[in-house]
Amino acid sequence: MFRIDRKLTTGDLDKALRQDVTEGLTFRPKQLPPKWFYDTHGSALFEDITQLPEYYPTRAERTILERHADEIAEVADAKTLVELGSGSGIKTRLLLAAMRRHGRLSRFVPVDVSGDFLAESAARLAEDHPDVEVHAVVCDFEKHLDLLPTGENDQPLLMAVLGSTIGNQDPRQRAVFLREIRTNLHVGDGLLLGVDLVKDPVRLVAAYDDAQGITAAFNRNVLSVINRELDADFDTMAFDHLAIWNTDEEWIEMRLRARENVHVHVGALDLEVDFTAGEEIRTEISAKFRREGLADELETAGFAPGPWWTDPDGDFALTLATAVHAPSELRYG
Ligand code: SAH
Ligand code: TRP
Repeated sequence: MFRIDRKLTTGDLDKALRQDVTEGLTFRPKQLPPKWFYDTHGSALFEDITQLPEYYPTRAERTILERHADEIAEVADAKTLVELGSGSGIKTRLLLAAMRRHGRLSRFVPVDVSGDFLAESAARLAEDHPDVEVHAVVCDFEKHLDLLPTGENDQPLLMAVLGSTIGNQDPRQRAVFLREIRTNLHVGDGLLLGVDLVKDPVRLVAAYDDAQGITAAFNRNVLSVINRELDADFDTMAFDHLAIWNTDEEWIEMRLRARENVHVHVGALDLEVDFTAGEEIRTEISAKFRREGLADELETAGFAPGPWWTDPDGDFALTLATAVHAPSELRYG
């Protein structure tokens, strides 16, 4: 059975994009939030990224799921799987298969902001799993967690955030997000996180600046989205893609740097934006994790950190935490 709930209308999206672009392009330094990468073209480019030779995280996470999904299903023992930022859901299939083998899974709730892409991938998933109720939800997981279906009659639920998507938030946003997730779970529910680990910066930078330029195209796509949706006139090729390792923060920073002085008119906002040559827009961070640091963050948010699985090379980790006490006072904000 398949259904899709669109909690975000095109009107909501338009309003949020207008606000983010107005704020982001008048802020110093200029910045744009990452969710706007993912129109249908952006989601397809992301799928290409996952297959790049330099982009190891998807392969590493798949390897972990191939080896440990049965164990995860057993520990989680859940009836409902909710996945935030599910995208194509290709890796999720391994988890779903294990949860079905374990025998309790009855419902899968994939959640994504990229509506048409989600509709397609979730419909395909439903076709292949006729015994599972697939209930897709198009929403912004930073704003609408309370709109998601919860566990039925105290039946345990597993919430998953794979692909190191949690690393695309800074520590302050992550604290809010984890706490928000905890608030929407019951004691005993599970949280499965896929996180990329700190490693040799050369490999990290290559993963976000591939030789074929797919990541560069993905990064510039945010400008195409603004051109199309807000009637702007960015010359996307006037911006270079940059991926920089921030040693202190242990995150990759993605930026777009103006090659020359650039003037942009954003028609729908009646906004004029000037870039001086070399000026940058911060588009995304991708934080890299260590086990102890993540465990601290989980505990602060009201989770008991549990098992930790990595791929044989130790590049990537999946960890399963359990919702316990109420989240403690936020350390940030
Ligand atoms: N889980 C997949 C995709 C990761 S890419 C994988 O591991 O390969 C991140 C996904 O999160 C994209 O599909 C994107 O559309 C979605 N996303 C990003 N920000 C979002 C937000 N604020 N709300 C909902 N979905 C979001
Ligand atoms: N969560 C993924 C990551 O941080 C998202 C991602 C992969 C990404 N490649 C990207 C985001 C390139 C922006 C640009 O690895």
